[in-house]
Parts: sequence; C-alpha cells; structure tokens
Amino acid sequence: MKVNITPKIEKIIERDKKVLFTTTREVFPFMPDHGEGDFVYDVAGNKFIDFSSFISVYNFGVNNSAAIRQKIKKQIDTLSHAAFTDFYNEKPVEFAEKLMSMMPGGFGRLFFSNSGTEANEAAIKLSKLFTKRNNLMAFYGGFHGRTLGSLALTTGRSIHRKHFGPFSGVIHVPYPNPYRCPFKTDTPEDCSNACLDYIENTVFVRDVGPEEVAAIFFEPIQGEGGYIVPPKEFAKGLKKLAEKYGILFVDDEVQAGYMRTGKFLALEHFGVTADIYTMAKSAGGGLPIGLTVARRSLGDIPAGAHSNTFGGNLASVAAADAVLTYVKANKSRLEESIKRKGAYVMKRLKHMKEEYEIVGDVRGLGLMIGVELVRDKKSKTPGAEEQDKILRECFFNGLVIMPAGVSSIRIIPPLTIDERNLEAGLDIFEDAVKRVNAQE
Ligand SMILES: Cc1ncc(COP(=O)(O)O)c(C=O)c1O
Repeated sequence: MKVNITPKIEKIIERDKKVLFTTTREVFPFMPDHGEGDFVYDVAGNKFIDFSSFISVYNFGVNNSAAIRQKIKKQIDTLSHAAFTDFYNEKPVEFAEKLMSMMPGGFGRLFFSNSGTEANEAAIKLSKLFTKRNNLMAFYGGFHGRTLGSLALTTGRSIHRKHFGPFSGVIHVPYPNPYRCPFKTDTPEDCSNACLDYIENTVFVRDVGPEEVAAIFFEPIQGEGGYIVPPKEFAKGLKKLAEKYGILFVDDEVQAGYMRTGKFLALEHFGVTADIYTMAKSAGGGLPIGLTVARRSLGDIPAGAHSNTFGGNLASVAAADAVLTYVKANKSRLEESIKRKGAYVMKRLKHMKEEYEIVGDVRGLGLMIGVELVRDKKSKTPGAEEQDKILRECFFNGLVIMPAGVSSIRIIPPLTIDERNLEAGLDIFEDAVKRVNAQE
C-alpha cells in the first residue's frame, strides 16, 4: 500500500465525528489538502491521481487553472455579494448571455441559485407556473437533489427518502436501463419502447391524466443511480410524448453537463432539446452555483414568485464566467480529446469485462463512464461489497475514485487529464479489480 493514513488524519476524523453530522462519506479516509490539474495531495502529503473530479466539479482540473483562480480572486477583492436578486449588476447578465450562446437555438432565460438541488427546485416551480399544472414525473433510480422538492423526484436509494415523506405530486416511472431492463426485454430498443408504452398506457390511464402533469425530469445519463446510459432512441420518444401532452421536458445536466460527455450538454448526444435545463457542479469551477435555463417562449415569472439571497453571487459568477470562457474558447479541442480519451478508457474497460467475472457491464459517453460490478456475470447479483473493496484498494494505491449506485464505480477524471496519467490511473484501477476478482 502506498498511502499512509497518519495519526493526524485519524484525529481530525475523530473530531469531525463529534461536531458534525454524518453526510455521505463512508468508504475511505481522504483528506485533500491541495492539488492542481490531475493530482491532489492529502494533509499527510500522499499523492493521488484524481478520477473523481471532486464529484464532477473540477471538470477542468483540480482547483482550476491559475488563470481561472486569478479571475475569482480579482472579483473577491472588488465585491463578492451584490444582492443580485434585488439590485442590478452587469456581470451576471454577461454570464447569462454567454451561457445562452452555448445552448441549443432560441434559449432563453436563466435563474441563478447555489446548487444542483436548488436548480431543480427552480425548475419544479417554473414548470408549475408555466403550465398551471400540479404533478411531476421522474424516473426510478434518478437523482435530482436532497431538498424536499427535488427529493420528491429522487429515488436513487431508499435511505435518501426514509422518514422524509410523505411526498406527493410526483409519479415515478421506469428508466430504460439496457443492462437491467425493468421490463426484461431482449434489446435496448425494446426496453425503450416498453418504458414509453408504460408511461402512456398505464401511468396516464391509471395514475394521473397527462393534462395534469407539468414536467418530466430526465437525466440523460443516470448519475448517482449508477452511470446508466439509456438506449439511443429513448430521449426522442420521451420528448415526443411530452410534446403530445404539453408536458415540459426538464433535462437535469447537473452531473452530465459542461462537456463531461464530450458535448456541452449530454442531451445533445440524443438529438433532442429540452424546455428547461438545470446545471450546477462544474459550472462554478469549485464555487457554489446552480443554473436553471428555460426556453424563452415560456415567458417570465411574476416578481416575488421565486428568488433567493445568493443567486448571482459575484464570486460564483466570476468563477462560472471564467470556466465558461475557457469552455467556449476550447470547445472543439475539448470535444476531440474527450472523445479520444473516452474511447481509450472504454477499450480498456471492455477488455477488463472479458477478463474478470466481477465486471458485469461497462458503459458511458465521453469521460462519463461507469463500471457495474456483479457477484458473477450469470446471476448479475449486484457486487456491493466488491465495489467497496475496489474503491479502497484504489485509494490506498493512490487513485481517488468514487462509487455510483449500489454496485457501480464512476470513472470521471478531469477532462483535461494528461493521457499518461489516465493510463496510470487505469492501471491502479485494473490492479484493484484483479485483486478483488481473485478473492471471489
Ligand atoms: C443529476 C443530479 N442532479 C442534482 C444533483 C444535486 O446537486 P447538489 O448536490 O449540488 O444539490 C446531483 C448531485 O449529485 C446530480 O447528480
């Protein structure tokens, strides 16, 4: 084992447990101290390759580039908080204009908040205001946040919801997972059709009339649910259904957006556009931001109907603007390199799938890639213990990598990762899989 957990780290964790509520940390004792680009160092000086992008936030390298940091510092020295929801300021306006130039034609208006869950809360309220309808639809296995509105949409794991209900006004429908189709069909296309048919001919007939549904919330790749890529044709079918009944299509790009899949928005891979988009995580380059963008033709909302204190915070907007400026300037170069690196990762993972019994499925788009672990390929029993073991093996050998869903591992290095570091990270990952596979 390369990584040394010192008494200092153990003591801080002990203090943490006494004064702070438990959140999601549970797998390994990682205490990052500083980092740049592809690498991060913990407080004991252990060096790690980053395959987590700090949960999809540092898409362009740990702690951003010096140029991006400089822009953030400059704004903090001028004015951080300008009460933008009550007063006016050019910088958030400029950012919104820039963002619209990255969106599919005809967009729109932006609402600022501070996180992914808030971006979805805004989408919930906007879609209800626009349609004057009360119900929402979302997918089983979906993750849209943990505040009570977005939590009503979220059904990743039952622990997320336990004791927090009752939740009302949200109908959940099956997500077409090609590896584990809820309707046990033979092909991804059949799975897609079965899910769409269930919405139209069961849900709309037995649960709620489509004229009562304001919006359907869709992740173009289910992230927290296990990095599940739906069949190619599904988003088109869903959009068609939404249009038929006047239901707004909300595309949650909080995790998959901002170039992660090789396109600015992951939905672009499926050839459809949404009515409302939500973004967060990497949009703020490490500072909190939530973005909700709605099609212009949906109109505006009355003053006071939705607002907050920190929306459009100038420090966050400076960070977001610096990140977006970088993306805009480098878009075609990023598209090409993400495609190339993603193909390399998939090639290695496909080889691992053939080699190791516990690798059940590998899937992804661009550099948003998931590996689903199983006890064995035939039963497909989720390999939850295998997941834990592999994550720890990786960590103690110098690779920060995170779980997704009950038995998957997400491979989301910085999009700018050097190809030698990508290879070195995959070597650590493969060694871990090999060792855990041999224990079974
Ligand atoms: C798709 C998606 N939507 C929403 C959220 C919630 O974002 P936040 O944790 O910033 O509230 C997440 C977080 O993982 C997410 O993956």
